[in-house]
Amino acid sequence: MKDNIFYITTPIYYVNDVPHIGHAYTTIAADVIARYKRLMDFDVLFTTGTDEHGEKVEKSAKSTGETPIELANRVVGRFKDLWGKLDISFNDFIRTTEARHKEAVNALFDMVNAKGDIYKGEYEDWYCVPCENFVTDTQLVNGRCPDCGRPVEKLTEESYFFRMSKYQGMLLEHIERHPDFIQPESKKNEVVSFIKKGLNDLSISRTSFSWGIKLPGDEKHVIYVWFDALANYLTVCGFPEDTERFSRYWPADIHLIGKDILRFHAVYWPTFLMAAGLPLPKKIFAHGWWTVDGQKMSKSLGNVVNPYETVEEYGVDVFRYFLLREVPFGLDGDFSVSSLRHRVNGELANDLGNLLSRSTGMVERYFEGVIDRPERVLVDDDPLTELDAVIGEYSEYMEGLEFSRCLEMIWKFIGRLNRFVDAKAPWVLAKDPEKREELRAVLYLLIDSLKIIGVLLYPFMPKTSVEMWQRLGIKEGIESIEDAQAGITKRYRVTKGEPLFKRLED
Ligand code: MSP
Repeated sequence: MKDNIFYITTPIYYVNDVPHIGHAYTTIAADVIARYKRLMDFDVLFTTGTDEHGEKVEKSAKSTGETPIELANRVVGRFKDLWGKLDISFNDFIRTTEARHKEAVNALFDMVNAKGDIYKGEYEDWYCVPCENFVTDTQLVNGRCPDCGRPVEKLTEESYFFRMSKYQGMLLEHIERHPDFIQPESKKNEVVSFIKKGLNDLSISRTSFSWGIKLPGDEKHVIYVWFDALANYLTVCGFPEDTERFSRYWPADIHLIGKDILRFHAVYWPTFLMAAGLPLPKKIFAHGWWTVDGQKMSKSLGNVVNPYETVEEYGVDVFRYFLLREVPFGLDGDFSVSSLRHRVNGELANDLGNLLSRSTGMVERYFEGVIDRPERVLVDDDPLTELDAVIGEYSEYMEGLEFSRCLEMIWKFIGRLNRFVDAKAPWVLAKDPEKREELRAVLYLLIDSLKIIGVLLYPFMPKTSVEMWQRLGIKEGIESIEDAQAGITKRYRVTKGEPLFKRLED
């Protein structure tokens, strides 16, 4: 068994909506990290799933004339199908309607209850159904939900409460002691000032609808959907029965989420865990939101980016690359076809695609497709002398979830290789029989560099990387960062093939 263990999660997605670019973004980013960690020889648990309970799903099912579970069964297929298309390498997919999850929620509830942190009371406040969140009078913005701007409803009901207020000090102290707990920094500051305003106790049960997990001991109540949903992170790693698996993977290394659900993850979730006496996740990272052509994405504007269509049209790796290259992770970003086209034509087709096709093309032309490792070092200005620095920066950016900077750095290296080809002008060397060894050394070096680029790009564009390796005649799969070593391959048998990326016309 590996000692290096890494557990990363995506949010679990509501089944009342079909997958869009926002869901795809979180999941692709998590996949990039999971693949990177596997390259670094970690035993990775990467999980995703669907959030199937709650009033929102119940209402949605009513409007489509289905039962909630029928709705869930239908929509869960859409998510699984999309993750297949996007090459998401998750290890487990959790649905909150599964029996194992009910067991975990009950166990968590019992632990918190045993601590004396749950009491029965009366709840009256504003409730935002789309956000599944109670809002106090002072939080309302123009009488509407402060998060989504939609109308709220007044609710009064008997409810069980969680003594969240008790954990205010402990939570602030934890955040202070663990500077990486909430990232990025700006988001952490928002959470801290929210907590400092004072934490209220939290209503964690409902009686106004029935689609949920029944509260242990009082079946009139269903458990609040966020208590239910957050517990998924425990369910997938074996809680409560499989103690060996649980102690292996928990606490999670990263909960990757969008900024809109930060409060649930950075305030509610840690306090539930504190009350249950369980360790807290190591990091909660909130990424930004996508707009489309400068506008908020919405069904009514009809501008929702459908990931299926985008992948159909441009290819999965183009989509993955664009999402992570376009916007520094953590900030908001804008999706536009013109900017996607620009990156495809410039960075993918020109810089990377051309480097591969001109390098393999020259090996075909001058060496009948077979290039052997030269015996002696004959090349000055060798770009691979910079390899250690490249890999050092690569790891640093990946560990810091700085995907766009990481890709930018890889492209700098690709640019360096393109300039190296121009400076060495192999087509000139090829005219002089005495320069045959120098020509071989230059081309070997290029092919060897392309193999390394294939490894570095693997977390971002797995299909492209595998395709690159196939064109270089490498039969093994990309498995480890060790594969990014220079000069270990004795012979490459290359094929030029079709362009890696098609240029996109206006
Ligand atoms: N079910 C809850 C999460 C429970 S986790 C214990 C939920 N589900 S969701 O389906 O609404 O969406 C989840 C994710 O999609 C969030 O991380 C959210 O930030 C992300 N996005 C939704 N729209 C988005 C954009 N326009 N842009 C980027 N991400 C967005 O919340």
